[in-house]
Amino acid sequence: MTRIRKAVFPVAGLGTRFLPATKSVTKEMLPLIDRPLIQYAVDEARAAGIDEFIFITSTGQSALETYFGRNSGLERKLKDGGKTTLLNRLRSTNLEDETYSFIQQDSPRGLGHAVSLARDVVGNEPFAVILPDDVIHAQRSVLAQMVKNFEGSHMIATQAVSSDRISAYGVVDIAQKSGQVQHLRGLVEKPSADQAPSEFGIVGRYLLQPTIFDRLDGLAPGAGNEIQLTDAIAADIGGVGCNGFAFHGERFDCGSVAGYLEATTVFALERAELRDGFQSMLRQRMNLLPVAA
Ligand code: G1P
Repeated sequence: MTRIRKAVFPVAGLGTRFLPATKSVTKEMLPLIDRPLIQYAVDEARAAGIDEFIFITSTGQSALETYFGRNSGLERKLKDGGKTTLLNRLRSTNLEDETYSFIQQDSPRGLGHAVSLARDVVGNEPFAVILPDDVIHAQRSVLAQMVKNFEGSHMIATQAVSSDRISAYGVVDIAQKSGQVQHLRGLVEKPSADQAPSEFGIVGRYLLQPTIFDRLDGLAPGAGNEIQLTDAIAADIGGVGCNGFAFHGERFDCGSVAGYLEATTVFALERAELRDGFQSMLRQRMNLLPVAA
């Protein structure tokens, strides 16, 4: 099995769908229950054996830096107060200094451009890319599921998407399937529904070979006039190739308010200490709703 040591987290998006909250906090810092979205992404990476974290940020992302650094004052207070559970919870979010780095993306030129900036830090080894907006509820880390099936080609997570939503995704063209692995003959970013080569959309988990950096180098802007990671992977189909991976798990688009609310509900119902109270509150609320005509 190939060991993947490094993960890139593109977190330079503006998060306009969450304004005004994102006026001062980036969307990756918005909490799902009590943990920011970025923590779910880091935990998923850790569960896949990753121990180096590279954040591609825009300017003014100090909240993220504060979050992963150590808060000695608060740690001391919790320790002095004998609040061991809280102290451990706080400490579990600290990243060791040498294990994470920030790279600044000066202008929003697309996901492909964001990933290309990690070239020097990643070096010549396969690596993961995680889009923290895509939160996945799964028995087993989706990235870990992918690492287990990763060989010499790039690998991307995929899921079936309804035709009215497919144009918001990168879409894969499948030559052949073997179990969860889809051998691809092409990928296209945000096709119209009638041009989509399959019903499988790309979800924000990628395992990439370092050849991707050469494909990204000088790549022309694509959909939305942005430099698209999908286009770089498509350009490598004749090179190292690419497999899709139809993961086990449920994905929530936490870049949208509706997806975020759904994820909050699902994760809250999962938490033993919240479940009962939350369930009866939901039931009560549902009873109060007018019946749809
Ligand atoms: C990005 C990718 C797209 C993928 C999507 C998944 O698009 O470019 O291929 O399907 O993430 O969330 P974005 O949502 O950033 O426009």
